[in-house]
This record gives sequence, structure tokens and C-alpha cells, in this order.
Amino acid sequence: MPSSVKRVFFNIGELSTATGSSAVCGKAQGELLRLHNAWLLEEDGLIAALGEGEAPKADDAVDCKGRLVTPGLVDCHTHLVFGGWREHELAMKLAGKTYLEILAAGGGILSTVRETRKASEDALYEKTRGLYLEMLAHGTTAVEIKSGYGLDLETERKQLRVVRRLKEEFGDVAATFLGAHAFPEGMEHEAYVNWLCEEAIPAIAEEGLANFVDAFCDDGVFTAEQSERILLAGKQCGLVPKLHADEIKEIGGTEVAARVGAISCDHLSETGSEGIEALRDGGVIAVMLPATSFYLKKPYGNFRGMIDAGVPVAVATDMNPGSTPNLSLPFAMTAGCLYGQITPAEMLTAATLNGAAAIGMADRLGTLEPGKQADLVVWDADNLEQLIYRYGTNRASIVCKKGERMA
Ligand code: NIG
Ligand code: FE
Repeated sequence: MPSSVKRVFFNIGELSTATGSSAVCGKAQGELLRLHNAWLLEEDGLIAALGEGEAPKADDAVDCKGRLVTPGLVDCHTHLVFGGWREHELAMKLAGKTYLEILAAGGGILSTVRETRKASEDALYEKTRGLYLEMLAHGTTAVEIKSGYGLDLETERKQLRVVRRLKEEFGDVAATFLGAHAFPEGMEHEAYVNWLCEEAIPAIAEEGLANFVDAFCDDGVFTAEQSERILLAGKQCGLVPKLHADEIKEIGGTEVAARVGAISCDHLSETGSEGIEALRDGGVIAVMLPATSFYLKKPYGNFRGMIDAGVPVAVATDMNPGSTPNLSLPFAMTAGCLYGQITPAEMLTAATLNGAAAIGMADRLGTLEPGKQADLVVWDADNLEQLIYRYGTNRASIVCKKGERMA
């Protein structure tokens, strides 16, 4: 048997990490382990040890040059597989059309559906792989990806096969079935919900193409009642529920998420105090998407109230061609700190441990602790505060998965 190879990351100016293997909330969300003049030892892709002062000897050594090291970021909410782009909608937005008005005019999600149906699986794979590599270069080492641009079985399966291929190549990719992303043109709403529950969800689950089931519960899209039916149908087939809720209007999505035992409830830019209580009482992780609020010129949501109430808060990009054509999680982190009024320490937990928990990966990812996967980023920043403060340019300098340099 070949002996194991050890690699040491030394000369770390500041190592910042949350700790633990499940989502944290309240005061604990802002409590990080912060080491200075630190080192981290990796062995066979896992973290063997870390500490301050003189670094141990190893077969390979990476000089971190006095910079900041954090866990690899976890982007727990994206729509990364899609045909085409939608830059032409920018002019409509600037002319004052709302997201739902663009959707109602046959644009929005439905125009991406048309492009995604047309694209071959290989073409979608190459495009998604390129976007994934860009995300890696910005410090994201684990990602969740939703379907939802097919709205028919053939295209939804094609999207999820792309996700599976990405997982086979890189690992740490979670798949979510979002057939309930919009109503397909020309189909009666109840008939589509019935088809999702009775045919699509069982077929997707049977093929093992998804870990999670999701629905866009909002004004003009899926009602709370329809969303609940869809999530329960998914749960019955072994898929873990997630929910898009309160992005445009509060219509009871947080209560649905709590009732069905969803692992996360996402968007929440319009969520009020009752919704926050529902999430807390239901043990649901709140996934906030500040880059979406930025691009839709919408409220950012009550991050501060959620943390203070004891809801574990995560953050993600929501990368998609319509509401958020941004794949930089650091940008979302800066926007979330500023407009959600939370600290860089709380935000790091949101983008790592709590994000990992929102996609069921917190047992092996999301913190820098012995036994966890050696997924880490060396940032071109002296400390965590500087990473949040110097927004707008990519500060990820070295990005490693299982100790291997990926970007
Ligand atoms: O999360 N909210 C629904 N879905 C996406 C937008 C998808 C699109 O516009 O293509 C979102 O913002
Ligand atoms: Fe989304």
C-alpha cells in the first residue's frame, strides 16, 4: 500500500473557521475559531491537524504568505444548468418592468425553458462545467444545483444528468428537482401540479437523479397549498424538501417549509416576524440570497432578526440567468453583511458551515477541523474583515479541494 502523502499549508496570517458538524444559530453563528501565524496539515485529502506557531514537516508545503485562509465556500442554492442568457431583459428592467411582468410576457423563466429544451446534454454540460470552474476560481468548493428549466420530464432529466456528471467529475455537488419552478405554457395549473406529484417526482426519485425537491412558492407562481403537496410528494419518494419562499410576497411559504420539515427555506426577502418564528420552531435553515435582491432592486430580508431569533442563516448566490447572473459568493457575502446587518464572522458561518448543512454536507464540509475534507481557500486578504471590505474583485488566490489545488 502506498504510504499517505502529507501536505502542510504554512505561514497563514489568519485562519478563520466556524466549528461543528451541523448548522449553528444565534450567538454561536458569530463565534469563529481564529488562529494567527497558523498552519494546517492535510493527509489523504482530509485535515489531520491545525495550529499556531511552528508548522510540522510534511512531504509538500504551501506558503500562504501571511494571508487569510477559510474553509471552501459552499453555494447551497444555484440554478447553474440553463440554455442561453437573458441580457436582453436588462432593457425591460431598466424601463421599469417587474420580474413577474417579464415572466407574464413569455420572458423570464419561460424563455430560458425554451433555450434549455433546445440545448443538447453535452452542450449544457460544457456550459455548466465552465460556470462551475468560474465558481471554483471565486472560492466555492461545494455547490447545489436545481433543475427547473425543462418543465417536462425529458428536459428536467437532461438537466439533472448534467448535475450528476459534474458531481462525478468534481464531487460535492447536490441535485435538486425544481419542476415546480413555473407553469409550462398552455397547461392548466392543477393538472401540472398533479403531473409533478404523480409522475415526475416518482420518476426522478426512482432514477436517483435528485437529493432534494423544491418549489417556487410565491405570488403568481405556486400557491402555498400546491407547494405543500409537491414537497410532501417528494418527501414520500425520499427527497428532502427545500422551498423558494417570500421572494416577492409572503404567501405562507415559511409555514409550509416548517410543516413539511424542509431542510431549508430560501430567498425570504419579504419574511416578517411570524415567518421567522415558523422557521425557528420548525428547525429550518434560512438561505438568504442578497445578490438576487441587488439585481432585482428588492429588499434584502431580515438577516439580523433571523439570527437574533435563533434561526440558522446561510447565504448563497442563486446564480441563474434571470434574477441573479452572478456566481461570486464573496459578492453576495459583502451585500448580505451591509444590507442584512450581520457581521463578517456571522457571514462566514453562513457561507460555509450553514450552507453545507442546508445541503446535507456539514458532516464532512464547511469547517476547518481535523477529520473534515481539506477544502480551503487562501484569500488575497490579511483577515476576514478585509475579504468582506474589498468587494468587487476576486480575492481567491489558492482554492483547494481535498488538499489539491483546483484554482
Ligand atoms: O431563484 N425565484 C425563482 N427562480 C429563480 C429565478 C429564475 C429565473 O429568473 O430564471 C430565482 O430567483
Ligand atoms: Fe432560486
